[in-house]
Amino acid sequence: MENDEICVVAPNRLVTPLAEFLPLQQHAIPIDEQFKSLEEYISAPYNKRTIDPYTRSRILLLISIENYSMFAKYQMARYIDDDALKKHLSMIRRIESMQLQRLISLIPADESPIETAIGFEQMVVDTTVNLAQNEADDYFKQVLDFTLLEDLDHLYRFAMLYDIMEEGDAEHITRGRTPIIKGRPTALQHRHPMDEMRVHYDLEDTSLRTIMNYLTVVAAEREKMLFYRDAVRLYSEQLIRRIFAEMAEIEGQHLSQYESIGDPHISPMNNLALIELNEAYNYFSALQEETEPLMRKLWGELLCQELGHFQLALVLMERVEGKNATKLLDNVSISSLIEFEPNLEYIEAVLATKIDLQPYDGEFVPEDRLPSDWPSFKFREIINGRGSPSDEVEKRWEHNRSLHSI
Ligand SMILES: [Fe+2]
Ligand SMILES: [Fe+2]
Ligand SMILES: [Fe+2]
Ligand SMILES: [Fe+2]
Repeated sequence: MENDEICVVAPNRLVTPLAEFLPLQQHAIPIDEQFKSLEEYISAPYNKRTIDPYTRSRILLLISIENYSMFAKYQMARYIDDDALKKHLSMIRRIESMQLQRLISLIPADESPIETAIGFEQMVVDTTVNLAQNEADDYFKQVLDFTLLEDLDHLYRFAMLYDIMEEGDAEHITRGRTPIIKGRPTALQHRHPMDEMRVHYDLEDTSLRTIMNYLTVVAAEREKMLFYRDAVRLYSEQLIRRIFAEMAEIEGQHLSQYESIGDPHISPMNNLALIELNEAYNYFSALQEETEPLMRKLWGELLCQELGHFQLALVLMERVEGKNATKLLDNVSISSLIEFEPNLEYIEAVLATKIDLQPYDGEFVPEDRLPSDWPSFKFREIINGRGSPSDEVEKRWEHNRSLHSI
């Protein structure tokens, strides 16, 4: 039987999706069987006019997760003096790269960077809502809700930029699934790097879903930071270049914030196993929701590849760190999945209660209760000292609208 056939789940799962992920009970493709010809690295691009917004979101989220996973292995290998282990890491890393290329090549050449940015912000808003709704750690949930209102505002600013610069309607991309409304204004999001530190969770007292949430959101914020930074050079209009630069900085702040939530005492092999588990978990979630047949096939195949990575990571963990990993993760299951669904009600509730918050000493407090020496006040003044591109886009958009209504 072909791998693809093995990996695609039965069609009836579309009617009754699995609500629980049980990685050790799934089929895994052995690593040696995962290499492909270069021709197979390149996927047929989707049609930007007809793609379902949630399918686009799944693609962008999985691109983020693959890129994060690949680079994590480069970083890990730097601190490992064990030739056999380095070879294993190198092998999995090569497959992550191939998976990443298969996903990135799905984005069509006629999709502009601003359109992709709108897709990224829709993805992260919907992902953050799902994560927050399934987050048992109250502190981490507060961080997710806090950041949700910032990415919400990015979606709103990019939508206006798209209208002004490319005469595009962002609703044609989001198709009403995600609200395009003002969040915490981007100009107010610039904070001193010291104010971006949060309190970390302890691995021992944390659920697997919390760890999956952490790895997922870190990957998504990181990818947007990299994408926006790179997009600056793709435009000649100064406003677009400034907006992308501004957004890259905020995503970098979000990344710093989320990174600081992870347990710094995690061992390298435990980290590897959890990163692989998160990849598999995300593909499994994507597969349960996907209706596009070709994408279902791809999610199914990549899921089975990741389960191969995860199983190898468990073996390495046992060999290198002497932990009985299979026992450690025995009966491993994650009882809720990453799903996208309309979420206006949740967003409105967060807007109503958390719009004025800012971080202070790892906690969130209303801005009017911050001490006058809060480092970010001064920092924000410096960053916005020569005007705010995100405010400017709103002014220009409102100006254009007033001209059209005459
Ligand atoms: Fe991967
Ligand atoms: Fe954002
Ligand atoms: Fe963000
Ligand atoms: Fe992997």
